[in-house]
Amino acid sequence: MQTVVNKLEGGSVSPEKALNNIVKCWVVVALIGQWVFAAYILSIYAFPTLFGNAELTHSLSPGQGIKAESSVDLFVFFAHILPAALMAMSGMFQLFPNIRKKYPKFHRYNGRMFMILGLSGAFTGLYLTWGAGFRFSDIGSLGVTLNGILIPIAIFLAWKAAINKKFIVHQRFAIHSFILINGVWSFRLYLMGWFIVNQGANGNTRNIDGPADITLSFASYLLPMIIAEIIFWAQRNRSNNIKWIASGFAAIGVLITVIGVGAAVTMMWFPRITQAFEGLL
Ligand code: HEM
Repeated sequence: MQTVVNKLEGGSVSPEKALNNIVKCWVVVALIGQWVFAAYILSIYAFPTLFGNAELTHSLSPGQGIKAESSVDLFVFFAHILPAALMAMSGMFQLFPNIRKKYPKFHRYNGRMFMILGLSGAFTGLYLTWGAGFRFSDIGSLGVTLNGILIPIAIFLAWKAAINKKFIVHQRFAIHSFILINGVWSFRLYLMGWFIVNQGANGNTRNIDGPADITLSFASYLLPMIIAEIIFWAQRNRSNNIKWIASGFAAIGVLITVIGVGAAVTMMWFPRITQAFEGLL
């Protein structure tokens, strides 16, 4: 502890370094959460379908989509869900500066795939919610609906900046696209984290339309977008104080992600992955 204080007083911990390290911590925790989410999607949706055990998916899927009666809706449901595993496996690679520098081609192709699948996820998601009717309630679906509308806007702005060779603007909107495309993942983190912090439901309902559910459904992408904007602002600014403030916000973001990943993995994804494997073996 004394060493940390000495370093801070002696100025050897620069605010840039602190902010950079906090962002790196976030990337590591998020990577774990993303890969377990990918393993969950493969285990409960992809593998049972491949091995002809649709009953298993029926019993493990938490939503209504899998029970679709129309074959078009069922097809759109799978077209919505299966690419999400690929996005969760490879999306985070876009954030590694070393990969960006060493393998620019991979960065470009992986980025394009992520954006195209993200667009498709947004449109199929909007269809499933409002066309096929897979929603627990109207008001509880507003958060994810705004999320679905913002995804194509952020992707368009990122793409336009890239073709105009405005790379700083491109990076900014690419990060917002990334956050928005991962809004449904963050929502699960926030919801499970909320249950852990409150030791149960508090402002939640079965139809996911309680005040806490609605707030979390918007916060799951708006809060990370605000924190990202604070970090961009600190990066543009020379003031050390602003960089420390941004580090504080980023640290809060890391804490929320740690709680969320811990809660979603232990309460939601891991138990279902285990059940899926028991059902398949
Ligand atoms: C591109 C970003 C998105 C990804 C990666 C994604 C991913 C997923 C995943 C993995 C599931 C399965 C959920 C589970 O088993 O826990 C799911 C279900 C679903 N998603 Fe998305 N989603 C995205 C965007 C959206 C949007 C924007 C909407 C709505 C506007 C939406 C609506 C739905 C619906 C209605 C379901 C079915 C829920 C049920 O079975 O009752 N998704 N999505």
